[in-house]
Amino acid sequence: MDPVRNPYAPGAGQRPPELAGRDRELARFDVVLERVARGRPERSLVLTGLRGVGKTVLLNQLRSQAIGRLWGTGKIEARPDQSIRRPVAAALHMALREIAGRHRDPERVDQVLGVLKAFALREPETAGRGTRARTGPRWQPGIDVPAAMGRADTGDLEIDLVELFADAASVATDLSVGIALFIDEMQDVPAPDVSALCAACHELSQTGAPLIVVGAGLPHLPSVLSASKSYSERLFHYLRIDRLERDAADRALIAPAEREDVNFAPDALDALYAVSGGYPYFVQAYGKVTWDAAPDSPITAEDVKVAAPNADAELAVGFFGSRYERATPAERDYMRAMAALGDGPVATAEVAESLGRKPSSLSPARDSLLKKGLVYSAERGLVEFTVPHFGQFLRTQHT
Ligand SMILES: Nc1ncnc2c1ncn2[C@@H]1O[C@H](COP(=O)(O)OP(=O)(O)OP(=O)(O)O)[C@@H](O)[C@H]1O
Ligand SMILES: [Mg+2]
Repeated sequence: MDPVRNPYAPGAGQRPPELAGRDRELARFDVVLERVARGRPERSLVLTGLRGVGKTVLLNQLRSQAIGRLWGTGKIEARPDQSIRRPVAAALHMALREIAGRHRDPERVDQVLGVLKAFALREPETAGRGTRARTGPRWQPGIDVPAAMGRADTGDLEIDLVELFADAASVATDLSVGIALFIDEMQDVPAPDVSALCAACHELSQTGAPLIVVGAGLPHLPSVLSASKSYSERLFHYLRIDRLERDAADRALIAPAEREDVNFAPDALDALYAVSGGYPYFVQAYGKVTWDAAPDSPITAEDVKVAAPNADAELAVGFFGSRYERATPAERDYMRAMAALGDGPVATAEVAESLGRKPSSLSPARDSLLKKGLVYSAERGLVEFTVPHFGQFLRTQHT
């Protein structure tokens, strides 16, 4: 069928033509927004899940929901070894600009922008490498008011965040709305910054200030947060984002096609669910190639069969291959040993045994795989791929 009209959208953070199976999360967030704006005690949301399940897309949707309620919003994508100070400053700047025009006292807004500028210009003290090493002209946050003094500029991220968040929230309070700061890839926030962020949220939640941090990250994110602050479980409400149930996966395929007057035969949907396993990225990838291969509507199981190898090949290069490439030879050996032991969590001791090595000698490979986000550990002594179907992919590799 006409590839120009192909509605499917495989790709990182690509907005799907139909956001299927996430009604629970969207409804929950509506309640959070309403309660926070009214100063009611409420835990913020943190989305967790494997690669390609739709965390970024959902986070963007939650952001739209907040904007729809006239909240100020900003978003950052955390990177390992990068302090969140500047990204957070930029995101809050964006959030304040969204609501500033409606505020009746421009001087008050400028005051808070001055605090934001002071916060942004303060060099990180203990932050990760990389930010410090930057040379050249002094970095400018692009805020047109003079930096304030004596607020949010101590250099201690925790203190500074508390002051900045409180001031930013006060602007939102005047408008009976709130501010939402979205953090994608939250597991990559450097440890000292995680601790400062949790502490600031904790402090804020006690005063009822309408500012929330909404995070998304890999499945081990809750353990990263609770290792940093034991009270993080009471701060965040964790929502596990998983593969789509059969009816949601079907809807993700059918709804966009219907808008183009195209239908699926029931056995085509069976075949597509069998290959995608309901993982949103795969739903889009197999949906896309099948559309292109189908001569006309309705799309049949035969079309899926013809098209699937094209999607397999694309996924092997893009989704799986790009990640595999990032691993060193030792890390690849480790992952192949994991894959040979089957899908789901495997014991690190078993991996060592199958490689004929001492567990301790494999720690560097395992640790760097954890750091690269290719595997995660939900429980001590166990490791698991963060990428769905990765084991299956590795087992078909002959390198
Ligand atoms: N609810 C959904 N229904 C249909 N398709 C979806 C849904 N959620 C996500 N997708 C599709 O799945 C793909 C992956 O989405 P996204 O990039 O948000 O995943 P992610 O969890 O952020 O992945 P990563 O961990 O790699 O960042 C995109 O192509 C997107 O269009
Ligand atoms: Mg993402």
